[in-house]
Amino acid sequence: MTQADQKEQFPGKTIVNSWNEWDPLKHVIVGIADGCMIPPSEPAMECKVPIDSDMKGQWGPRPQETVDKANIQLDNFADILRKRGIRVDRPTPMDFSQPIKTPDWENLSMFGCMPPRDVVATVGNEMLEATMSYRCRWFEYLCYRPLLEQYFKEDPNMRWEAAPKPRLTGRSYKDNYLSRIMTIEDRLKLTAAKDFVTTEVEPLFDAAELARMGKDVVVQHGFTANLAGIDWLRRHFPDLRVHAMNFPGDPYPIHIDCTFIPLRPGLILNNPIRKALPEHRKLFEINDWQIVEAAPPAHKNPPPLCYSSVWLSMNVLVLDPKTVCVEASEIHQMEQLDKLGFEVVPVPFRDANPFGGSLHCATTDVYREGGCEDYFPRQVEGF
Ligand code: ARG
Repeated sequence: MTQADQKEQFPGKTIVNSWNEWDPLKHVIVGIADGCMIPPSEPAMECKVPIDSDMKGQWGPRPQETVDKANIQLDNFADILRKRGIRVDRPTPMDFSQPIKTPDWENLSMFGCMPPRDVVATVGNEMLEATMSYRCRWFEYLCYRPLLEQYFKEDPNMRWEAAPKPRLTGRSYKDNYLSRIMTIEDRLKLTAAKDFVTTEVEPLFDAAELARMGKDVVVQHGFTANLAGIDWLRRHFPDLRVHAMNFPGDPYPIHIDCTFIPLRPGLILNNPIRKALPEHRKLFEINDWQIVEAAPPAHKNPPPLCYSSVWLSMNVLVLDPKTVCVEASEIHQMEQLDKLGFEVVPVPFRDANPFGGSLHCATTDVYREGGCEDYFPRQVEGF
């Protein structure tokens, strides 16, 4: 079937197809805040919680009024997308307060299903359940199973894949790590040296570490993807070029989408305090791509009970190469994208941020028009 045929049949027919972060979006999954928990302590959890966070030492269900407010904004976001002709599906929440166990460990609760971006990676006609890297998120794929089963039935060309479930025993984490990161400076030193909390015992990656650009996929090496995980992705996608990037300057390197965001062919938004390294920029430079520094966030602090940083400001969702959704209070980011030639769609989302991120995190692509293009014909040896 040609791309034009596919387009014509859409959205009547389910087709899984998305090769990059910018082609016209027609079908997407938007998360839900129901029952979301502040998860209990587990090996890698404290590394993720910011040093000055109001979440330190807390765990349990999030206050119901915050869940309700987040859901209002998530539903509104879904409506904005629907009004633009995009089909929106939602995951099925479970009782996230229940304790979970595998033969190797027990955890007192799960997490939630707000950020679908973290759990399922769509690459071409494939939807891939990530290994995940926290115990509390080990079973989160189950919230997406009703949708994945449906897509699998409806689209005969869909590839449904799951990466090997990790054991996540103590061997998957460095046990003295926390004692080595007492201050932000300690953290910055270790993360710059690519000394992260996970070991290389087994492949680990969260789906939100991927930034897709056709034949080239960038994966952040950090707290939630190790080199074995990136190697697994490389072998799993033999026709693609998978590049590992790390970003010194980020004391909590978790998920690439507040750091390095492809906006359209030839243009990347990069966090100015987590600049891409010269050896990594090369690929973009020699192919005439521009890496622009993101505008400063509008807020001095993230909202209460939020794991993420103020850089959720740049966590934008591109609807097509000329249209982008930006959180409605992020005036500087909106202005910058407007100047870069985008129609900016403001989406109020601050109440949903504590549940795992902003507009990019809160979605997973199912269908974008277009195919797998080679945007980087010149490659850099060893990257
Ligand atoms: N580590 C990012 C920051 O706070 C947050 C990324 C959230 N992304 C996601 N897909 N859940 O800067």
